[in-house]
Amino acid sequence: MCGIFAYLNYLTPKSRQEVLDLLVTGLKRLEYRGYDSTGVAIDSPDNKNIVMVKRTGKVKVLEEAIQEHFSGGEYSKPVLTHVGIAHTRWATHGVPCERNSHPHRSDDGNGFVVVHNGIITNYNDVKTFLAKRGYEFESDTDTEVFAKLVHHLWKTHPTYSFRELVEQAILQVEGAFAIAVKSKYFPGECVASRRSSPLLVGIKTKTRLATDHIPILYGKDEKKLSPDQDIRPHGQSRELPVLPRSESTSEFMPLEEKEVEYFFASDASAVIEHTNRVIYLEDDDVAAVRDGTLSIHRLKKSLDDPHAREITTLKMEIQQIMKGNYDYFMQKEIFEQPDSVVNTMRGRVRFDGNAIVLGGIKDYIPEIKRCRRLMLIGCGTSYHSAVATRQLLEELTELPVMVELASDFLDRNTPIFRDDVCFFISQSGETADTLMALRYCKQRGALIVGITNTVGSSICRESHCGVHINAGPEIGVASTKAYTSQFISLVMFALVMSEDRLSLQQRRLEILQALSNLADQIRAVLQLDSKVQELAKDLYQHKSLLIMGRGYNFATCLEGALKVKELTYMHSEGIMAGELKHGPLALVDDSMPVLMIVLRDPVYVKCMNALQQVTSRKGCPIIICEEGDEETKAFSSRHLEIPRTVDCLQGILTVIPMQLLSYHIAVLRGCDVDCPRNLAKSVTVE
Ligand code: G6P
Repeated sequence: MCGIFAYLNYLTPKSRQEVLDLLVTGLKRLEYRGYDSTGVAIDSPDNKNIVMVKRTGKVKVLEEAIQEHFSGGEYSKPVLTHVGIAHTRWATHGVPCERNSHPHRSDDGNGFVVVHNGIITNYNDVKTFLAKRGYEFESDTDTEVFAKLVHHLWKTHPTYSFRELVEQAILQVEGAFAIAVKSKYFPGECVASRRSSPLLVGIKTKTRLATDHIPILYGKDEKKLSPDQDIRPHGQSRELPVLPRSESTSEFMPLEEKEVEYFFASDASAVIEHTNRVIYLEDDDVAAVRDGTLSIHRLKKSLDDPHAREITTLKMEIQQIMKGNYDYFMQKEIFEQPDSVVNTMRGRVRFDGNAIVLGGIKDYIPEIKRCRRLMLIGCGTSYHSAVATRQLLEELTELPVMVELASDFLDRNTPIFRDDVCFFISQSGETADTLMALRYCKQRGALIVGITNTVGSSICRESHCGVHINAGPEIGVASTKAYTSQFISLVMFALVMSEDRLSLQQRRLEILQALSNLADQIRAVLQLDSKVQELAKDLYQHKSLLIMGRGYNFATCLEGALKVKELTYMHSEGIMAGELKHGPLALVDDSMPVLMIVLRDPVYVKCMNALQQVTSRKGCPIIICEEGDEETKAFSSRHLEIPRTVDCLQGILTVIPMQLLSYHIAVLRGCDVDCPRNLAKSVTVE
């Protein structure tokens, strides 16, 4: 949900053209986060001003504008130290257009420019406050108030450092944000901060850093702020509180004295081609670079705060975020699944000894076994992975299992108890609704288990324990390999929970055996690609697709329909086959496209009933069935055969044809597969 990228080169000569290239490449990596409009800000060639370029649409459009207007001449001369900021937007306040694109500025003179991800919820109050002081607003965004607020503070407190100005502004805003600020009054400096939206700092130096830790520095002045002084309670007439200027000389801890480059980014994929050394910022950290030195500040010290932020070495490889020979990231990610499922199990499942160890939660297993119930909470595809594994979790843990959409869970103020165990499932680890639900449960004393794909994400850090699904970076907005890896992570958890249950050993062995064959079976399903493409040719001009199934495959229906909707903009509905006769059957006739999943499992007979209800209404469903199941195949000329596996893992093999089908329909309809309209991969707003 909006991507932020900033680049600061200190004593490292780079032409503005090179800086712009770097910014554009950074934005391309973050494009999955939003792609309504884009923008960059750099220093003007005479260094006296800030130049901004903004465009509606994708990064490519911005790149072309930059090539046309900002190359050659002064733009090719090297600059020793420079700061550039960039943004790709997913619109929340104001339609996508250049006027609403970031960076936003403080005034006509571009004194301060800001890129922001998240929502400033009290922006109206701040806007009124600033409007009374003569500020005129040029966009419909919440972000613009931040730039103007910093400017107002700069005018009223001329002795403040850049960092102090941003700190003061942050104290006045509510909501979620990650921001990076650049100013013509503070050349060569960049200040960035976050609250509930992700932000990291990448560090690139020629020599290895002397330390792996950046000390956290605390403001001495927090007591000077009192709630009745600030502008939040509609206090338009009140002046902003003033913090005395801190003694900045003692505040900056040298990280490195010589050449250094810093990258501020919403996620690691934007920095990995430059450096693998990053610091994940925490909520309310203010990271400032001045004279090439990075410092991290917090205004308030709490008891459990560490003394330093650690520099982490990323394990990600650059190839993982490139498309390789594939046309789209989504296609690549679908075809990576034979490997990604193995990576999820690697080091955890010992097929020879039938043992499973989930290092991230093993110490908590006794506590989990004593719990009152398990709650699985997520959004979108992650929620579907919970639906897919609920039945197995109920069977192997013998605990009540509740599956919840994070947004609905929060709306209901669901009762949560200290002996609940709450799983938060999220590919990105940053989804706002899921994160809010996590905090809600944590406050009520539940044990928090994170199931995420993104090391260092907010959900990871705020969980008591968890499982990294290790699917590798997922860039296509529509989630694919993360789903199958979330699925397997939850299956592994169910197996761990049942390891000492004698009565379940046979079942566990059967599942473990099936897990060991899974990668090959996924490869076999992927061989159906050209057949699925042919089916897509039959379907892509239709308006709707109904996907029916039940039991272990109901989640595939929901997930398949979600994939079709988000990628192809066709209507699609996942229908519980048991509900067919209670309404959806009215939709069926000889022209309505229907896809049914009918496998040889305990609900086979019931699925066959549904199939017959459809065919007797002249429906001609496409059937996903087991290899060689002639009896089922006889009901339709169009079918996809998948290998036989244990019932609880069927959902992994049945979802892959749905991923391929939605992909091919999207291509045939000319849709942008990796960046579906109106969507973003990481939804960091509620
Ligand atoms: C967005 C994405 C979906 C994803 C959902 C939850 O809507 O477009 O693909 O399933 O968020 O994301 P998460 O990162 O929490 O799994």
